[in-house]
Amino acid sequence: MRTEICEKLGIEFPIFAFTHCRDVVAAVSNAGGLGVLGAVGFSAEQLEIELDWIDQHVGDKPYGVDIVIPGKYEGKGETDVAKLEKQLRDMVPEEHRAFAKKLLADHGVPELPEGEEARQLLGWTAATAGPLVENTLKHPKVKLVANALGTPPADVVAEIQATGRLVGALCGSVKHAIAHKEAGLDFVIAQGYEGGGHTGEIGSIVLWPQVIDAVAPLPVLAAGGIGNGRQMAAAMAMGAAGVWTGSLWLAVEEAESPPAQKQSYFDATSADTVRSRSWTGKPCRMLRNDWTQAWESEGNPTPLGMPLQYMVTADAVARSHRYADKAQKVAFNPVGQIVGVMNEQRSTREVIQDLVEGYLDATERLNKLNENV
Ligand SMILES: Cc1cc2nc3c(=O)[nH]c(=O)nc-3n(C[C@H](O)[C@H](O)[C@H](O)COP(=O)(O)O)c2cc1C
Repeated sequence: MRTEICEKLGIEFPIFAFTHCRDVVAAVSNAGGLGVLGAVGFSAEQLEIELDWIDQHVGDKPYGVDIVIPGKYEGKGETDVAKLEKQLRDMVPEEHRAFAKKLLADHGVPELPEGEEARQLLGWTAATAGPLVENTLKHPKVKLVANALGTPPADVVAEIQATGRLVGALCGSVKHAIAHKEAGLDFVIAQGYEGGGHTGEIGSIVLWPQVIDAVAPLPVLAAGGIGNGRQMAAAMAMGAAGVWTGSLWLAVEEAESPPAQKQSYFDATSADTVRSRSWTGKPCRMLRNDWTQAWESEGNPTPLGMPLQYMVTADAVARSHRYADKAQKVAFNPVGQIVGVMNEQRSTREVIQDLVEGYLDATERLNKLNENV
């Protein structure tokens, strides 16, 4: 199953794992895949701490970093972070803040301790992502950088490629995939509708082969709904250079998700997710709960765009993380439809082994069918 991108990166299996948790990044890379740290929620200083930690825990294995520079967002063009934040804060209607506060209060979720305030502007603007990229490039074991929600700006692409690293981006449509190719990216991640986090409207089995054909010979990593080796084999059979997974890692032993949140994932079926703009302002797949329903109900405020909506919801994200056991009905639980088979806690190594063995079983099954022809 070693594809060309595995050779370039020096990994054993074409299994890419997106996660916000450094322990999972290290565990995946140590198990032969490529752990990719989602950087959007970290300040540049915190990211530096996380990357130092990973460097110390992956031996000589490579890993990746994921950034978020959207193609479209409120305040695009402003490069001064302080000015941008002020401009954005002024744009948030008080009605939205009051509505979010009331939802949490009605569900009995405690306030953050006195003096603590959640960060409202994350790394999802060009201005706030720049320092994350700079810190990333100081770490030689980072061999790949991926961008979500758009084609990264040309200067960022050039900066990363000048260091010899691979740069790619996620897409949910052929149009976006072609834009990535035209910008000179080294690979594309095609994420289908069923995937966790920000996601488009086309299902994986339809999207993957279209993107693979549209950008050939650029390598395409298949994302969205992959939870076992059979699905991995299907993606590889269509011509994917590897699989890019996210949801699977939310509930592994090494993941720092609060136990109550892991339990919500274990309890959910594949029918329990929804694509909602209610946390980040862009369509994102998550568990349906009182929060997502409330923001969709008529008469209530409509979610703002990115990054304004998160300026409203940052406090709720922090509170529902800290008081997870009290907050599940109004918590942000991003995950894909594959949640329906995430029913128990496993170690990262077990999940990787399961993917590899399932892939081998599936290919053997096909080989046997072919023998009978
Ligand atoms: C909790 C969560 C957060 C995510 N955040 C990001 C992100 O910040 N950047 C990104 O490129 N992709 C993000 N994604 C998408 C993943 O990179 C990946 O494409 C997706 O999870 C694949 O579909 P799956 O969840 O069915 O495996 C996120 C996914 C999840 C589940």
